[in-house]
Amino acid sequence: AALRESFVQKAHKQNQRVVNLQPQASFKVAILGAAGGIGQPLALLVKMSPLVSALHLYDIANVKGVAADLSHCNTPSQVLDFTGNSELADSLKGVDVVVIPAGVPRKPGMTRDDLFNINASIVKTLIEAVADNCPDAFIHIISNPVNSTVPIAAEVLRQKGVYDPKKLFGVTTLDVVRANTFVAQKKNLKLIDVDVPVIGGHAGITILPLLSKTKPSVSFTDEEVQELTVRIQNAGTEVVEAKAGAGSATLSMAYAAARFVESSLRALDGDGDVYECAYVQSELTELPYFASRIKLGRKGLEAIISSDLQGLTEYEEKALEALKPELKSSIEKGVAFAQKQA
Ligand code: NAI
Repeated sequence: AALRESFVQKAHKQNQRVVNLQPQASFKVAILGAAGGIGQPLALLVKMSPLVSALHLYDIANVKGVAADLSHCNTPSQVLDFTGNSELADSLKGVDVVVIPAGVPRKPGMTRDDLFNINASIVKTLIEAVADNCPDAFIHIISNPVNSTVPIAAEVLRQKGVYDPKKLFGVTTLDVVRANTFVAQKKNLKLIDVDVPVIGGHAGITILPLLSKTKPSVSFTDEEVQELTVRIQNAGTEVVEAKAGAGSATLSMAYAAARFVESSLRALDGDGDVYECAYVQSELTELPYFASRIKLGRKGLEAIISSDLQGLTEYEEKALEALKPELKSSIEKGVAFAQKQA
C-alpha cells in the first residue's frame, strides 16, 4: 500500500508539472461544427490553451459525447455542449472568438466551389446567430469555399448592422503551415525558423505562396518555385485523394486553426507582436477581400502588411494577376448569394 501511495503521489506531482492548472487569461471560445473531423481535434487543441476559460462546443449532433470526453482533461477551461438550432444562441453568448468549421468537406474530384450550395446556407445561418449574440467576437471562418463564405459572412453581418471588417477572418493558416513544412523539407531548414507568407485566397491557383519572401532568406531555382507553388496549391487535394472519400484535411487543419485561435487570444490579451496570414476585407489589391499577412491586436486586424507585395518576382507577379479573375468571381458569387437571401 505504501508503495502504491508513493506512486500515486509521484504521478500526481508530475501531472501538476506537465499541466498548468491555473488559467493565464479567461477568454471564451466557441466552435461551431465541433463534432466534425476538424471540430474534434480543434476542440482538443483549444482545450489545452492556458488562455481559455470556457470552451463552447456546438453542432447539430454528436456533440454531447465530445464535450463529456474533453471535459475530463485537467486543463483550466470549462467545456459546455450545445446541440441543434435551439441551443445555438446560448453557445454564442459572451464569447470572444467564434470558430466555424461547420459544413461538408470535399470528396475526390470535387473543387472547394462544389461545396458552395450546402455550406453557403450553413455559414449564413450561423453568422446570423453570431450577429445576434456576440457581434463583437473575432470570427474565424474555416468552412469552404472560404473565398466565398467570408464575403457571405460579411454581407450577413452588414445586413444585421454589426459588420466590423477588422474582426472577420477567413482561415488560411493551413496554407502557411504547409508552405513552411514543404520549404523546410526541400531546403533542409530548421522548421521552427521557416515562415512563408501566402496571399490571395484559399482554393487552387488563388493560393499564392510568396517564396521570394521566405524567412530566413533562401534562393530557389525556377523549377523549385514551380514545384513548391503547385504542391502548396494542391496540398488539400493530396489529402482528399489519400483519404479516398473519407473527407479532407482535418488534423493539420485543426493544428492550423488552433494556431490562429491562439494568436487571436494573444492579441486580445495585449501581446503587441502577433502576425498571421488571413483572408480579410482588404485594399491591398482591387479585390475587396484578399489574404495577406496581417497584424492582430486587441480590436482585431490592426494592419495589413503591404510590404509583402512589393518587389515580387516575375513569376509571383504573373501568378498574382492570374488568380484575380477566379478570386473575383468567387467573391461575387458569395455576395450575390447573401444579397439574394436578404
Ligand atoms: P465534417 O463533415 O467531418 O464535419 C463537419 C461538421 O459540421 C459535422 O460535425 C456536422 O454535423 C457539422 N454541421 C453541419 N451542418 C451544421 C450546422 N448547420 N451547424 C453546425 N454544425 C453543422 O467536415 P470537416 O472535415 O470537419 O470539414 C469542415 C469544413 O472545413 C468543410 O467545409 C471543409 O471544406 C473545410 N475545410 C477548410 C480548410 C481551410 O483551410 N479553411 C481545410 C480543410 C477543410
